[in-house]
Amino acid sequence: MVSIEQIQEQIEGLRRQLSYHNHKYYVENSPEISDFDFDKMMRTLVDLEAQYPQFYDPLSPSVRVGSDRTAEFASVAHRYPMLSLSNTYSIEELSQFIDRIEGEKGATEFACELKFDGTAISLTYERGRLVRAVTRGDGTTGDDVTTNVKTIRSIPLTLSGSGYPDLFEIRGEIFMPYASFDRLNSEREAAGETLFANPRNAAAGTLKQQQSAVVAKRGLDCILYQMAGDNLPFTNHIENLNAARSWGFKISEYMTLCHGAAEVIDYINHWDEARKTLPYPTDGVVIKVNDFALRRSLGFTAKSPRWAVAYKFKAESALTKLLSVDFQVGRTGAITPVANLEPVLLAGTTVKRASLHNAEQIAALDIRVGDMVYVEKGGEIIPKITGVELAERTAECKPFEYIDRCPECGAELVRFEGEAKHYCPNQSGCRPQIVGRVVHFIGRKALNIDGLGGETVELLFENGLVRDIADLYSLKAADLAVLPRLGEKSADNIINSIEASKSVPFARVLFGLGIRFVGETTAKYMAAHFKSLDAVMAADKEALMESDEVGDKIAESIIGYFADPVNITILERLRTAGLQFETEVAERKSDVLAGKNVVVSGKFLLHSRDELKALIELHGGKNQSGVSSNTDFIVAGENMGPAKLQKAEKLGVNILSEEEFVALIGSDEIPKVEEKVVEVQPIQGSLF
Ligand code: IVH
Repeated sequence: MVSIEQIQEQIEGLRRQLSYHNHKYYVENSPEISDFDFDKMMRTLVDLEAQYPQFYDPLSPSVRVGSDRTAEFASVAHRYPMLSLSNTYSIEELSQFIDRIEGEKGATEFACELKFDGTAISLTYERGRLVRAVTRGDGTTGDDVTTNVKTIRSIPLTLSGSGYPDLFEIRGEIFMPYASFDRLNSEREAAGETLFANPRNAAAGTLKQQQSAVVAKRGLDCILYQMAGDNLPFTNHIENLNAARSWGFKISEYMTLCHGAAEVIDYINHWDEARKTLPYPTDGVVIKVNDFALRRSLGFTAKSPRWAVAYKFKAESALTKLLSVDFQVGRTGAITPVANLEPVLLAGTTVKRASLHNAEQIAALDIRVGDMVYVEKGGEIIPKITGVELAERTAECKPFEYIDRCPECGAELVRFEGEAKHYCPNQSGCRPQIVGRVVHFIGRKALNIDGLGGETVELLFENGLVRDIADLYSLKAADLAVLPRLGEKSADNIINSIEASKSVPFARVLFGLGIRFVGETTAKYMAAHFKSLDAVMAADKEALMESDEVGDKIAESIIGYFADPVNITILERLRTAGLQFETEVAERKSDVLAGKNVVVSGKFLLHSRDELKALIELHGGKNQSGVSSNTDFIVAGENMGPAKLQKAEKLGVNILSEEEFVALIGSDEIPKVEEKVVEVQPIQGSLF
């Protein structure tokens, strides 16, 4: 018989061993056991913890696996604000920074470090245990992302060694190594999902994921570069970070002490080249005064410390020959010029194609076929041409003439006001537009019609079987089975899948129509707001803009779509085919709000306005657009209209906050927040 004490010992022993091997692998890069043995040990621990919940520990190495629970991120105020660094691209300005300090303070030690290109994080440790991880946010308050951060293997959950203060913060950069980034984007590509533009966006997006199990799989890493606290063991930066390394943190091995501008410049020049061989992205070098007393005497400006500066590397560029220009026609008719280049190595990959954006840009840079051009990898996936080396231009390079007819169907191109792109207006006769619309329609996030891909759609088009999305619903298995590469079985599968798409919810049908600017999220909000296609069609511009996410530009595009009789005919055929044109009414959750008239006004933290309205209906209430004498209460968020507020006060209508409302309906629903793939500003931090 194994005693409960023995079980506890076994659990603790496993935890100690797993922490040790985890550190060996993820921080020191020198594993002592195989992945297989590590996984086996981890499974034993997970099983034992499930069996003996009394030994639960929030910092057990098993939390590294993450959970599939949906997380909310609480806002947390930073104990020390996370300030930014002043930036420079110029060696001259950098020398001035050093000379100024040395002029004032005499010979100074500077710590030089790489500037890691990810997203800043502040970790709080109490008595050697990780208690909180907070993003930079606005520098004063950030999001509590502890659950996600615990899955990052190189971040110690409990510290080893000795000499750490009882309470301190350590800050650093969470980033995505290139290998993880490439893997993630290929998975997303295969699944038809939007790609992350760069590892920085991917790191920031991943950190805000609502399920830590997803974070755990994405291979984030973290290097720490700054400490804050009252009882740090040393009075300078480098010694403190070396101590932190001994407690288990990953500290950059490339941090160096330099004296005087010449040494700092050597460091920069070395890393401007050497960084190309690093497995993770960096975008500069950070130069910091090493000594804390000196830092204190230099102080801060409003935004950044006077004792540190970031020198940013120029984006990598390469010079190569522009061989030709192709013009691609997208599903919306937008024309995109794409440059074909003589292959050249740039930031670790061979580049053969680059984007040229539009006619204006080509003219502004006077780019000509045959020119030697500069290519850069900016924030986007596809590199771009940034200039021409005029010294190498030959007499054969003739000025570039932009096309005025569609390269696919020959229609005369048009321009829309305020838009730099040319468009092919021949929506119903231009092959790539038709095929593109059908491919979009059958996509996983739209009607999810399996078995059909781009190539098959091309085939259907060429054989005259599909000219628009509604034609899909007249297809017969016999039509398909005779096509090359399609047997009877796959033909049947396709037909079944088309049949199944008739029950796909309205929001996805709306997205599938491919109305310009109506993305997946906008379609969801519109479906929740309008509840039927008929209501969308009946809405004028003002009414359309009442839906979350719909602004001026989107509203105009929607109106344009429904003004086209070709689209109306297609919609009628889809309706006859039996597609969902109405939002399903969700089952009542309770009668808490039965007979109550409610107004929702302002901006909210946890829900969108339409989500709140949906919740009101789910709990038996009625939504009102304006406050009146029969309004029972208002759910008020930030920036509620002053007129509404005044009226509410005059009529004595109750005002509830979002939290009070959620408590009232007793909702345990945590709304799903879309993963935002956004350009994140260079994140900034501060040393106390
Ligand atoms: S020190 C007050 N060191 O760059 C300065 N920052 O533009 C605290 N960063 O917010 C930051 N590598 O997100 C520091 N070795 C490094 C860094 C680094 C990357 C980021 C960090 C910071 C931003 C400043």
